[in-house]
Amino acid sequence: MEEKINLLVAETIEKIAAATDGKTLGEIKVAVLGKNGALTSFMRNLKDLPAEKRPEVGKYVNEARAKLDEQFEKKGNELFEKELAAKLESEKIDITIDKPARPIGGRHPLNIVRRKVIDFFTSMGFVVTDSPEIETDYYNFEALNIPKDHPAREMQDTFYIVPGKILLRTQTSAGQIRTMEKDKPPIKMINVGKVYRSDDIDATHSPVFHQIEGLVVDKKITMCDLKGMLEKFAKFFFGEATQIRFRPSYFPFTEPSVEVDASCPHCSGRGCRVCKGTGWIEILGAGMVNRHVLEGCDIDPDKFTGFAFGIGLDRITTIVYGINDMRQEFENDVRFLKQFN
Ligand code: PHE
Repeated sequence: MEEKINLLVAETIEKIAAATDGKTLGEIKVAVLGKNGALTSFMRNLKDLPAEKRPEVGKYVNEARAKLDEQFEKKGNELFEKELAAKLESEKIDITIDKPARPIGGRHPLNIVRRKVIDFFTSMGFVVTDSPEIETDYYNFEALNIPKDHPAREMQDTFYIVPGKILLRTQTSAGQIRTMEKDKPPIKMINVGKVYRSDDIDATHSPVFHQIEGLVVDKKITMCDLKGMLEKFAKFFFGEATQIRFRPSYFPFTEPSVEVDASCPHCSGRGCRVCKGTGWIEILGAGMVNRHVLEGCDIDPDKFTGFAFGIGLDRITTIVYGINDMRQEFENDVRFLKQFN
């Protein structure tokens, strides 16, 4: 009997050896544990053993089978890991590969200055409002004390959408009326944006430019308040040593009206190319809000007074950066724009 078992084991080992030669793990598994596999047929042949030997041999074979199963599983996992690693290695994409860097944009000088202006006025308690670029004749002219036949219209000729009625605003002052119709004093607002005039383009003119409108209406507002605030503004932008001066002027919606000059920050008032030798640079128009304008907005001019100012944002930007041709602000030449960031 011993002999028979030994023979069977030897046969099995031989079969496994033959089966593993050049085979895949799956094929070996079938050859050993499969339906017609070596171990399976060995099990089948157990019946030929004498009854008293069967339990012992059977137990031994079952244990061997469990061990084999375990080994196949382990080997299979190892192979899988190895293949996966090889596959990942061969299919690797290097996402850190160097590419030419994409140029990063920066802020336009006008925007840098615009933000600074807004910062300055909001820190003084002004509210930022918005008003339309496409305006009616009423808000842009009529309500600002500029009736149809007024000569001031000539200076601000613009682009009409509906002749005589709807136009591209010539001044952010239109926003003063919109605010005063909506809100009652105390009012402290600024309004920043594009304005349009049918001007020819040159170093100091453009049919599109930008204004910052300011309006303060309250009890006992005087020209001293206007002057004090504008002086702070000029010092903030052009340096502590900056002086300002008021020159009498005329705007239909302010009375009295002034043009405001700042001492030239480039030559400290001695006279240079930027200030055309005068030592002064005009920075804005301003004045005390005209009684008629207040009345038109249902604000009692005997109770309330106010001041308004209009700053040319493009002008301030050219002064701050010493830009000698305003056209450069609109040409989008990257070499020019790069200098400000
Ligand atoms: N709107 C005027 C202009 O465009 C400027 C201004 C604004 C003057 C407010 C006085 C008060 O020239």
